[in-house]
Amino acid sequence: MTDRTAPTAHPIEPALAARWSPRSYEDRAVPAAALAQCLEAARWAASCINEQPWTYLVTRKTEEADAHAKLLACLSPNNQGWAGRAPVLMLAVARSIFAASGKPNRHAAYDLGQATANLAAQAAALGLQAHQMAGFDAAAARAAFAIPEGFEPMAAITLGYPGPAAALPEALAARETAPRARKPIAEFAHMGAWGAMGSPA
Ligand SMILES: Cc1cc2nc3c(=O)[nH]c(=O)nc-3n(C[C@H](O)[C@H](O)[C@H](O)COP(=O)(O)O)c2cc1C
Repeated sequence: MTDRTAPTAHPIEPALAARWSPRSYEDRAVPAAALAQCLEAARWAASCINEQPWTYLVTRKTEEADAHAKLLACLSPNNQGWAGRAPVLMLAVARSIFAASGKPNRHAAYDLGQATANLAAQAAALGLQAHQMAGFDAAAARAAFAIPEGFEPMAAITLGYPGPAAALPEALAARETAPRARKPIAEFAHMGAWGAMGSPA
């Protein structure tokens, strides 16, 4: 299995460091129990007034073959080039209206993102990896799956066991093996005042 563990500057939870976004996947199904564990992790995310505005359209290559093909067809050509390798393809959809009041939920996308971060970390803990994608046609996905108004398709997500980079075309293989990089903490932490960039340690 490809190991792309993050070279963190401070120790973090192992599953968070192990998470990454592969484009090569093994030709191996995700066990139903593992898929349920990933969705369970999403389920326990925090959300604004516990609204839980996340929904996932889950398609497995074998069990939901037609839906899987339909969702794959909604991806951008670049993403279609690799995402079909993964045994599971999902669509993360935010419910943008509060169920009780019918008012707009300004934090729906924020909450869906937290749920999906949980899902991805749980996947990594199980030796699986998720890859989130903005590159898909939201209108086409809405039409293909009759997604009602008030629900916003936000991201497509592959899930599966990561495969060898060598199985990918050259350009994608290079991206798969490039060093992982992040801005330092001092580029995003404002310590006590806006613009006072720094790191606690
Ligand atoms: C909201 C979102 C949209 C993304 N869209 C795409 C995409 O369309 N295609 C793609 O190959 N990767 C996409 N990515 C993956 C990012 O490129 C990736 O997370 C980033 O380069 C960091 O790499 P890592 O996840 O391996 O740490 C997306 C990630 C997120 C969170």
